[in-house]
Amino acid sequence: MFQLSSAIALCILLQGTLSHPSDNQDKELPRIAEEPLTIGNQCNGYCFSVLKPILDHFVSLKEGADASSEFRDKIHSLEETVKHLQGQLENTKTQLKDNENLIKEKDERINDLQGQLNSTTARFTEISDQLRACKQTEENLPNTCPSGSPNGIYQIKLRGSPAFKVPCVSAASGWTVVLSRFDGSENFNRTWRDYRNGFGDFSGEFFIGLEKLHLMTRSQHHELYIQLRDVNGSTAIANYDDFIVGSEQEEYKLKSLGKYSGTAGDSLRYHLDKKFTTTDRDNDLGDGHCVSNHGGGGWWYGACAQGFLTGKYYKDGRRLSKDYGIIWVDWRNFNVSLTFAQMMIRPQTIRV
Ligand SMILES: *[C@@H]1O[C@H](CO)[C@@H](O)[C@H](O)[C@H]1NC(C)=O
Ligand SMILES: *[C@@H]1O[C@H](CO)[C@@H](O)[C@H](O)[C@H]1NC(C)=O
Ligand SMILES: *[C@@H]1O[C@H](CO)[C@@H](O)[C@H](O)[C@H]1NC(C)=O
Ligand SMILES: *[C@@H]1O[C@H](CO)[C@@H](O)[C@H](O)[C@H]1NC(C)=O
Repeated sequence: MFQLSSAIALCILLQGTLSHPSDNQDKELPRIAEEPLTIGNQCNGYCFSVLKPILDHFVSLKEGADASSEFRDKIHSLEETVKHLQGQLENTKTQLKDNENLIKEKDERINDLQGQLNSTTARFTEISDQLRACKQTEENLPNTCPSGSPNGIYQIKLRGSPAFKVPCVSAASGWTVVLSRFDGSENFNRTWRDYRNGFGDFSGEFFIGLEKLHLMTRSQHHELYIQLRDVNGSTAIANYDDFIVGSEQEEYKLKSLGKYSGTAGDSLRYHLDKKFTTTDRDNDLGDGHCVSNHGGGGWWYGACAQGFLTGKYYKDGRRLSKDYGIIWVDWRNFNVSLTFAQMMIRPQTIRV
């Protein structure tokens, strides 16, 4: 505005001085005062030619002003954009913070789990140690039925062989039951393999097996205790103080009985130093085959038997065929089959 008014003023001034350059200034000045001037009639072409660039400049300034308003709009929209972006940045910052918190939580959780893993590992190590200790205690298992413990099935462990279970009659201190007959429920007509490994059920009739008898009687001196009963309920016992069964290489020979004592008589003496015979392995001294001639029970046959506890089970106590029953000739004759027989052993050291 200032530029426009000064341009008009300048134009008027110029018109007064430049339109009559030859005129005397003293003459001309009062005319100016008498005749009012307008741009239309006072600003001739020359004036306009001077004014035009100024007006153009003004127009360009005006356009510049317009442009600057456009620019302002642009700035404004840019400001809006920046504001928007700042908003987004804030959001992102918040999300980052959230994520950081999440990560922190996860870290804590990982730490927690690491701790749990550590304690689990510790527990595992502890249990492994216990297991090892347990295995060591298998080495510490007794080598015979425990004394003074309740009757039952116990594990025993002999040097150089794995542990095995045996039924124990402990009331009279530490007897291992190795053969039991009382109802005829178990078959005793069996092979070498069965007699070597043992058969039957500890809660029923059974034979513990020649290999175990060998291992046990080899490990220390054992006494043998035999209980017998006939169908009428009479009982008798036979006791031997040094019972030894040889190895399988020795055909499980009955190597020792020691001294006899008891009420049944010494019928087992006949079998001392005899090898064991089964249906499939004949070591007997008979002309034929004791085992197949007399019912199949494995034993330390001579030719053939006098004290014999693996024979056929005759429920009424009378032998009715050539098959041997359960025989103890020094107590009851060959025609009698006993209805109860039990062999037990225990280390001599337990004896009282
Ligand atoms: C877990 O055990 C490792 C290695 O023994 C140890 O560096 C770490 O600190 C333990 N962590 C916890 C939580 O106990
Ligand atoms: C059992 O008793 C009966 C009747 O008294 C008798 O005939 C039988 O011989 C007895 N048996 C034995 C093995 O003693
Ligand atoms: C004993 O077993 C053998 C072989 O299985 C068989 O041939 C025999 O007849 C059986 N003896 C008795 C008395 O059951
Ligand atoms: C056993 O029985 C047989 C035949 O049944 C008989 O000849 C023998 O005399 C009896 N022996 C005894 C000791 O009773």
